[in-house]
This record gives sequence, structure tokens and C-alpha cells, in this order.
Amino acid sequence: MTDAPAPKYAGPMRILSGAQTSGSLHLGNYLGALVKFVRLQDQAQCLYFLADLHAITVGRNPKKLADQMREVAAAYIASGVDPERSAIFPQSAVPEHVELAWIFNCVARLGWLDRMTQFKEKSGKHKERSSVGLYTYPVLQAADILVYKATHVPVGEDQKQHLELTRDIAGKFNHDFGVPGFFPLIEPVIEGPGARVMSLRDGKAKMSKSDPSDYSRINLLDDADTIVGKVRKAKTDPEPLPETVEGLAERPEADNLVGLYAALAGKSKADVLGEYGGQGFGSFKPKLADLVASVVAPMGDEMRRLMNDPAEIDR
Ligand code: TYM
Repeated sequence: MTDAPAPKYAGPMRILSGAQTSGSLHLGNYLGALVKFVRLQDQAQCLYFLADLHAITVGRNPKKLADQMREVAAAYIASGVDPERSAIFPQSAVPEHVELAWIFNCVARLGWLDRMTQFKEKSGKHKERSSVGLYTYPVLQAADILVYKATHVPVGEDQKQHLELTRDIAGKFNHDFGVPGFFPLIEPVIEGPGARVMSLRDGKAKMSKSDPSDYSRINLLDDADTIVGKVRKAKTDPEPLPETVEGLAERPEADNLVGLYAALAGKSKADVLGEYGGQGFGSFKPKLADLVASVVAPMGDEMRRLMNDPAEIDR
């Protein structure tokens, strides 16, 4: 799906990643993470978990949580994660995540957590009313990864800072306890045109589950008509598409739509502009809409089929 080159590895690899089980997954999650989950299955042992303990940092509705957990598991499988080859499991099923998180809470420094931009974004103006869990969330994330001594972590660009923190925690632990190399200094796997998918309503904001406008994102459960409608309404500027990638600078919406096309078609942005440069959005958007629908709608159908049999997903 993406033209990102496979990363280069020095030693034995172990892949780990996960998605928070809060709200529906969207095209950003698919292109930023799931596509890489699938690709990396051919290269090493893969562990893909359902981050339910992260989900309760922002809400605690037990009925919804169970359904959302199944939905995320269905999304992994529908996108091509093979449960016969890769482990798919709830974070809360392995208590060692939380045990190691406590130890890491005593290794990480307050100053490090104070710099985390995701906490600032999520807590907004009401920092003092946020859960303590939301603040220490990146420490649990470090434990998720290092409890398995994972070496490579496929994620979207928004998780980069959390993975840098994971490296800092591993480095300080290894140093403080005199155990060089005990925890690996992980490699983020972030590259590719889908690493940062932006909102369809605002090319400067990330596509996100929490955006109040459903038109800002393509949900993996949207049907083909909904997808086509959302792409048609996506914000653009009045200029035709440029002939070169440099021409996308200062044009965040155009850049995002070209990036989406590139990621889904397995091409580079330059290839896409080679084909569509000089054309207006009136002709580009229907092509993009068809491409998005051709990838997402069948995945949504498969997710619905899987979710219709909750016992099978639980198994
Ligand atoms: P979450 O649930 O927010 O997102 C899941 C994955 O989707 C990626 N992603 C995006 N990629 C591109 N464009 C976007 N607009 C976009 N939005 C989301 C995220 O980068 C992520 O890879 N903290 C993590 C979950 C987690 C985790 C971990 C991940 C907990 N522990 C350990 C890796 C390793 C999160 O909230 O992702």
C-alpha cells in the first residue's frame, strides 16, 4: 500500500505496536500504522496489542470499551494482520505492562513528561482536571514496548515523541542499574507518505478520532457513498494541482490529498503529480474518492462481518 522502503536492521527484530481502543479507527490509523503492521509480518515476530489501559485515561464506559476492543481487533484483521502469524491481544491481559510502568515511573523525569505535546493537546485548558493516567500515559507506552524488549515500533508521526521518551527511559534504566544494553534503544518505523494524514476539513490539523466533525475523517467503517461524499466535500484551495512536489508547499490541503492518493496507490507524491499535475480538484477528487473507497469500503465490510461474531473475535 505504501512505497516506504522496508527499514534496515542490524540484529534480531521484534515488532510491537498497538492502537488505543477509544473510538473508531480511521484512514490515518490505517495508513500510519496498520499498513506497516501488515508489511512487517514478513520480516519478524510481531506483537500487536489493543491498548485498553490507555483508553481508560480518557473515559471509562465498560460496555463501550468491550465493543471498541472488538472493533480495533477487527480492524487489525481486516487490514491484513494474520492472527496465525502475529499475536493480537488486549494490553490488560498481560499485567507485566503495568508492573514495568511503575518501575519506569520511577526512572522517567517529570521534566521529560512535561514536554509531551500530546498531553498538552489532550488536556487542553483543563490540565488540573485531567487524569494522572493521561499524564503518565507515555510511561505505560514505554513499558508496553520494553516489556517484550521490542526493537521496532511502527507508528504514525504523532507518536514520535513518545518513542523518543521510550528510548530515554531505556537508556537511563540501563545506565542507572549498570546493565548496558538490557533494554534495546528502539527504532521507530514512521516513514512513508501516510505517516501523517491530516483532517479533510483542515490540512494543518491531524486526522483524529476526537475531531467533532465526522467530515474531517474517513472512518474504516464508512460505506462507499459516505467516503465519496466526504472526499468531494474535502477542503481545497482554488489552484490546480502543481506539477512538482515543491509546489505543494504552503498548500496543506492539496498536500494532504496528494499524499493520501500516493499512500493508497503505493506511489510517491511526485508520481501522483506526474499524472495529475495541472488538473483541478474537480477531476482529481473523484479519482481519489474511488481509490479511497476501493480500499476502505471492503475493509469495513470485513470488519462488520467479523464484529457480527463477537465470540470468534474474543477467541
Ligand atoms: P492511537 O490509538 O492514537 O493511534 C494508533 C496508530 O495510528 C497512528 N495515527 C496516525 N497516523 C497517521 N496519521 C494520522 N492522522 C494518525 N492518527 C493516528 C498513530 O501514530 C498510531 O500508530 N499511544 C498510542 C497507542 C500505544 C502504542 C503503544 C503504540 C500505546 N502503547 C506502544 C505503539 C507502541 C496511540 O494512542 O495511538
